[in-house]
Amino acid sequence: EIGYYQELYRPQFHFSPEANWMNDPNGMVYYEGEYHLFYQYYPDGNVWGPMHWGHAISEDLVHWEHLPIALYPDSLGYIFSGSAVIDHENTSGLGKDGMPPMVAIFTYHDPVGEAGGRDDFQTQGIAYSLDKGRTWTVYEGNPVLANPGIKDFRDPKVIWHEESELWIMSLAVLDKISFYTSPNLLDWTFASDFQPAWAAYGGVWECPDLFPLKTETGEEKWVLLVSINPGGPQGGSATQYFIGDFDGKSFTPTQEDVEWIDWGADNYAGVTWSNIPEADGRRIFIGWMSNWNYAQVVPTTAWRSAMTVPRSLALVEKEGTYSVISQPVSELEKLRIREFPVTSEVFELGSKTIELLLSLQDEQDFSLRFYNDSGEEVVLSRIRDQFIFDRSKSGVTTFEDGFGNPQTIPLNSVQLESVRVFVDQSSIEVFLNDGAVAITNLVFPKRAYSHVELSGIPAQGSLYHLASIWK
Ligand code: FRU
Repeated sequence: EIGYYQELYRPQFHFSPEANWMNDPNGMVYYEGEYHLFYQYYPDGNVWGPMHWGHAISEDLVHWEHLPIALYPDSLGYIFSGSAVIDHENTSGLGKDGMPPMVAIFTYHDPVGEAGGRDDFQTQGIAYSLDKGRTWTVYEGNPVLANPGIKDFRDPKVIWHEESELWIMSLAVLDKISFYTSPNLLDWTFASDFQPAWAAYGGVWECPDLFPLKTETGEEKWVLLVSINPGGPQGGSATQYFIGDFDGKSFTPTQEDVEWIDWGADNYAGVTWSNIPEADGRRIFIGWMSNWNYAQVVPTTAWRSAMTVPRSLALVEKEGTYSVISQPVSELEKLRIREFPVTSEVFELGSKTIELLLSLQDEQDFSLRFYNDSGEEVVLSRIRDQFIFDRSKSGVTTFEDGFGNPQTIPLNSVQLESVRVFVDQSSIEVFLNDGAVAITNLVFPKRAYSHVELSGIPAQGSLYHLASIWK
């Protein structure tokens, strides 16, 4: 019955909930041919409310099928963000008849405790499924990790650590990350804290994710994602990352710099899929395409928020410095239904859902202007060592004061070789140099942008019309 999403602003190739409010992606796990996507969900309204885990599955990360709500608030509280794993060895004992449990590890947020002025209202709980995520049983011994008396104690991301043969939980605790270990997902032991003086603070730390990545030459580093709100490079919410080593107990950064997984205003709380088969080998990320500064007042009503396109994260090394690049997953190429060579400076888009891929040859300043004949436009420009994303005239902007502020992204003397842009009604995602810089932003034009104007660069590349993901 899907395929009917035609509302103004409704994304056509990004995941959005059928109706009502969504925030963070949660519990992403791959199991038996299905990518699971759970998400922070309030089914009874289009602003944040008592949190559930909504649920969808996909066989290709592109086309999604909505499933019933997986987790409901219970006597211990709302179901806040968290992760899911397949417990293949049945370390938890929650499996049955050789069926490994799919285990969700999430934060319970107890509104009664909060209203009562207690500080320990966030605890960690688990639930499990023995039928490929279709039905869930809440563990009777919850919470599995009690709160030591700190208001912000949430968003557990769990991985299996081969070397120590333990589960590792990364947890956001006010403005640090705490690591816990467990042999069985039920009993957790504190291991260490991570809180370097030079990191980006400015707000609470949320939604951590710790995982190893290898460079093309096989060198391994550990990456720690940490979302912060506020304090992002464009104001409000954003996700920083750290590069370092992990010994099973503590994360030691090997570079002291603040890096952002995305430089735009609208990619928050993103984390990666668990249990992607080794043969695939990718580390696949998805983020919530909004910002707490205005998420609840953007001009959509039937639903609120969408996810970014799924991105494969890769580690690159240059002169001894490591960085994480974000590449839209290759499965998205299946959505290309028509290709047009870009042959002129002004080019008609011809669709509300497009991908534009241009190669760049020199270091000249240039701009790309997406516009319609109602005077709405988005201008992306390279001006010397900066990239500017200007959505000040993009459409409806008045719901938040700072929404139209032009965004400046430092290029750090990088020679730009390619720019790839995805436009989907109310979002623009830009990938420079194969994902070395990612910039994700919402826009609300009253009419879709009809043309793109290229200034200062040779018209060299392709424009694709993209199909809707709603089968
Ligand atoms: C991040 C966040 C998480 C929390 C969830 C509540 O956007 O604030 O820290 O678990 O949203 O919905």
